[in-house]
Parts: sequence; C-alpha cells; structure tokens
Amino acid sequence: MYDPDLYDKYSEFQRRDAKEFIPYIVSKMTRKPSEVVLDLGCGSGFNTRNILFPALSEVSNKETPANFVHVYAIDVSKTMVDFACIRYAHPQITYTVADVMKDETEFHCKFDKIFSLHVLHWIVDQGKALGRLFELLKTNGEIAFYYISKAPVFAVYDMMSRNPKWAPFLNDVSEFIPKSYFSADPAQDMRDIMTSIGFNVQESSNYSRKFRFDSVENMIDAAMAANPFVHKIPSELKSEYKEDFRKCFMTLLYYAPTRDSPNSVEVDYSIVLVRGQKRV
Ligand SMILES: C[S@@+](CC[C@H](N)C(=O)[O-])C[C@H]1O[C@@H](n2cnc3c(N)ncnc32)[C@H](O)[C@@H]1O
Repeated sequence: MYDPDLYDKYSEFQRRDAKEFIPYIVSKMTRKPSEVVLDLGCGSGFNTRNILFPALSEVSNKETPANFVHVYAIDVSKTMVDFACIRYAHPQITYTVADVMKDETEFHCKFDKIFSLHVLHWIVDQGKALGRLFELLKTNGEIAFYYISKAPVFAVYDMMSRNPKWAPFLNDVSEFIPKSYFSADPAQDMRDIMTSIGFNVQESSNYSRKFRFDSVENMIDAAMAANPFVHKIPSELKSEYKEDFRKCFMTLLYYAPTRDSPNSVEVDYSIVLVRGQKRV
C-alpha cells in the first residue's frame, strides 16, 4: 500500500476486526512485567497505537501489576512508516521500515510476542515469513495473527487482469490472490505450515465475517485504499481504472439497506486467526 492518508481514512473494516480480535487474542496470552513485542505490517499505525498497544498495556485486575511494553512496528512501505511515526507516535512504539522476507532484517533483540494484523494475505511465501518470525521469537514466545483468506476483491483482481486494457498493469496478479482463496480449509493449511516450522499451534480457525459499508462508493474507496495495483496505473487512466473496478465489484455485492442507511452494501469475507507458541 502506498497512500497512508487514504488507508488511514478508509480502513474502518481493518479497525473493526482489530477491535474485535485483539482483546480476545491478548486475553489468551501470558503476561510478563516487561515485554518486547513485534507488530509485522503496521500500515498507517492506527491499530498498533490505538488498539494493540493499549490492549497489551492494560492492567487486567488489581493483582496484576502494570507491565512495561515496547512495540517494534515494522512495515515494508516507507511511506506508511513515515506516516505512522508522525500520526501515531508513542515513546514505547518504534516504527521501522523492514521487509520480513529479507533475511538481512536484523533486530537487536528477540521478541516475547509477535502480532500481525491483516498482512499474511499480502505475502506469497507464508511459510518463509513464518519461519523468519519463528527465528525472531524467544523460546516460549507467543505469536498471533489474522489475515483475509477469502474475499470478493480477489475475484475482482482476477477479472480486471483478464481485461486487455488493464492486463499490462496486473501481470503479477497471482501474487495478490492468496492460495487460501482456492482452499477448502485455509485454517488447516495454516496449522500444517505452522506445525512444520515447529510452532505449537494453540488455535487456527476460519471465521466467516461480514462488513457493512454505507454506500458502494464508500466500499470502493476502502478497496482502492488497499489496492496493490493502483500505483502502477498512469494518472490519466486512474479514474477509468476505478470505474471498471467498481463495475466488476458491483457484480459480487449485495445491497443490505437499513432504515438509517438505505444505500448500504454488505461484503462477505473470511479470516484465518492463528495463535501459537515457540516451544523448543
Ligand atoms: C492491509 S495493511 C494492514 C495494516 C495494519 N496492520 C492494520 O491492521 O491496519 C498490510 C500491510 O502489510 C505490509 N506488508 C506487506 N508485506 C510485507 C512484508 N514483507 N514485510 C513487512 N510489511 C509488509 C504492507 O506494506 C501494508 O502496510
């Protein structure tokens, strides 16, 4: 993703997932007085600063002393990291540009906990990425992540790539349609990958989800904000690309009007949520 302002404005659906999943994930983890945490793929930093960090720092009851948490939030996109450093700065969060796929990514520490929210569907070789995360965890360290396994937007990418007008800009489309999209049980596939790396998998679950957007325009803006191809489209063709993208998406949507929101549309998608531990 290349436009942090747009992503920050139109990531209501990623924020909703974080608000629902993070308290659950964190409640299942152990807590130490001092913890070093990695957030892989922090994007604009909103969820790192406003949802993950407070959940990790919260005092659960009077007997539990407040713990000291430092979060290293990384993203491969420099524009995202620059934005996060300004908009979501905190003395206990360090935002850094880093690609988890590059072995030369060096940290001067190992992590007690690793999180990754809505990222793994961007990564083709998930086994390699998770192998790197295994190396970066301390023994008995915990990992939790969730990502989109199925969503209509992947069918839209495929349709757009078959249109001769857009095909030259979408020649790497297969890298952005995750294998899970074609799988009968993505959570079981992920459990197998995690187990083969050496993780003790505590949970790997498929969740069917829905998200309601107030209007088609709102939904298209959100999909464009996370669209991996739009930066390759020449500026004079961008509005035409968006219009064709909208037409393709319309065939896969359904209207779900309510009294308060008569133009709203609903999108079905699936999430894989994983919790595991490094035991050696
Ligand atoms: C959909 S955003 C999710 C952002 C944030 N975690 C959230 O919940 O809103 C996915 C992010 O993963 C980042 N990303 C993709 N591949 C990566 C890699 N190999 N290493 C680090 N970050 C990566 C992208 O740059 C993008 O900002």
